[in-house]
Amino acid sequence: MAKKTIQISKPEGKLGVMTCGMGAVATTFIAGVEAIRRNLASPIGSLTQMGTIRLGKRTEKRTPLIKDFVPLAGLEDMVFTGWDIFPDNCYQAAMKAGVLEPTHLNAVKDFLADIRPLPAVFNRKYVKRLNGSNVKRGKTKMDLAKQLMEDMQAFREKSGASRMVVIWCGSTEIFMKPGPVHQTIASFEKGLRASDPGIAPSMIYAYAALKLGIPFANGAPNLTTDVPALHQLSIENNAPICGKDFKTGQTLMKTIIAPGLKARLIGVNGWFSTNILGNRDGEVLDDPGSFRTKEESKLSVLEYILQPNIYPELYKDFYHKVRINYYPPRGDNKEGWDNIDIFGWLGYPMQIKIDFLCRDSILAAPIVLDLVLFMDLAQRCPEMARKGIQEWLSFYFKSPMCAPDLYPEHDLFIQLIKLKNTLRYLRGEELITHLGLEYYD
Ligand SMILES: NC(=O)c1ccc[n+]([C@@H]2O[C@H](COP(=O)([O-])OP(=O)(O)OC[C@H]3O[C@@H](n4cnc5c(N)ncnc54)[C@H](O)[C@@H]3O)[C@@H](O)[C@H]2O)c1
Repeated sequence: MAKKTIQISKPEGKLGVMTCGMGAVATTFIAGVEAIRRNLASPIGSLTQMGTIRLGKRTEKRTPLIKDFVPLAGLEDMVFTGWDIFPDNCYQAAMKAGVLEPTHLNAVKDFLADIRPLPAVFNRKYVKRLNGSNVKRGKTKMDLAKQLMEDMQAFREKSGASRMVVIWCGSTEIFMKPGPVHQTIASFEKGLRASDPGIAPSMIYAYAALKLGIPFANGAPNLTTDVPALHQLSIENNAPICGKDFKTGQTLMKTIIAPGLKARLIGVNGWFSTNILGNRDGEVLDDPGSFRTKEESKLSVLEYILQPNIYPELYKDFYHKVRINYYPPRGDNKEGWDNIDIFGWLGYPMQIKIDFLCRDSILAAPIVLDLVLFMDLAQRCPEMARKGIQEWLSFYFKSPMCAPDLYPEHDLFIQLIKLKNTLRYLRGEELITHLGLEYYD
């Protein structure tokens, strides 16, 4: 039978990557890509660079690298810039973030020092703990959106990029709920002209990108594109969107362990999670408004994985608490503790303790790389681009975006199957169901 292949245009020319925010995550990502391009390091943690995909039957032994199977942009074709409220160039910002050692950074210093952040769209109302000078001025939020579009077009021209991706690596904004201004493109644009307080800076970046047909990914838990107006704009302009909140550290562990407990029908009474971290992200999250946004994102994970409504005997009323404590001496090297109270056969209690000495941005950087490359792939594939939300990228997020009438899929293993089956689908390969009865005929 002839394979049904889906149209994907080739990744010709350069891929322009613009990060909103050039802090710990963004600089670790950019420095890492350059170090890898210079053969100084390996892309550990990146599915697009190191992952493989099984095709056909297990007996066929066809397992190409993902990057050889789908037409992804090459690392050598990526060009970078971004915005930040602080004027430090990418080298200075990376040194301040303190994630990578100076020896690593000095090896790519010439490259990093050339990347200087553009003035940001920022308002302290939405991120209370920060104050920077590298900020745009504009009469209205629409005026600021237009300035961002000019930045995007200017970067496209200057760098010679044929395609672009914008990714939010900026701070976590205060907790917001969708309101009337977010309901339609018309109400949103009216809100931009009237500088409606319901429109946060991250939404202005997203609007600017989508308006130009550029994909937009959201690495923070901010509401940003998770509103009907921006869904609609994404679909209308064939500009893919995905989010929210990179799945690193403690939540990554949760979505690895909780599906295992549920698979073996082990009950959970309580899950207490606490963290200490001392980077700028920790400082921002010390503000109750930003913390609430993060808390919502972190809390939803267990509820969806454990499904207490379907398994009331095992998970009804389980107690879930998440704490984040700003503790400067640790810098970016976070420590996350989990105490999990579980119960087994005949209700006998047991406990699991996790102490994860984690480097958050080391876990986040490969996610940024994969998202940029997969969003560019989606953009080059009309069938994917016109769908707007890219739910197949849930694998990378704490709080995955999905169609309004769906619940998000949080189980890391289901997310991976979904991602790989999407890639098989795009290349006209059989989807893998793991049924496997044919081996026994
Ligand atoms: N580090 C991780 O592993 C991780 C995991 C999940 C989510 N996140 C989220 O990713 C984001 C970035 O994390 P980080 O550790 O790099 O934080 P960071 O504080 O080091 O960097 C964020 C940068 O964004 C800038 N910024 C804030 N508002 C801005 C705006 N409106 N426009 C442009 N720049 C702006 C800040 O000045 C700062 O330099 C945070 O929202 C964080 O919650 C991080």
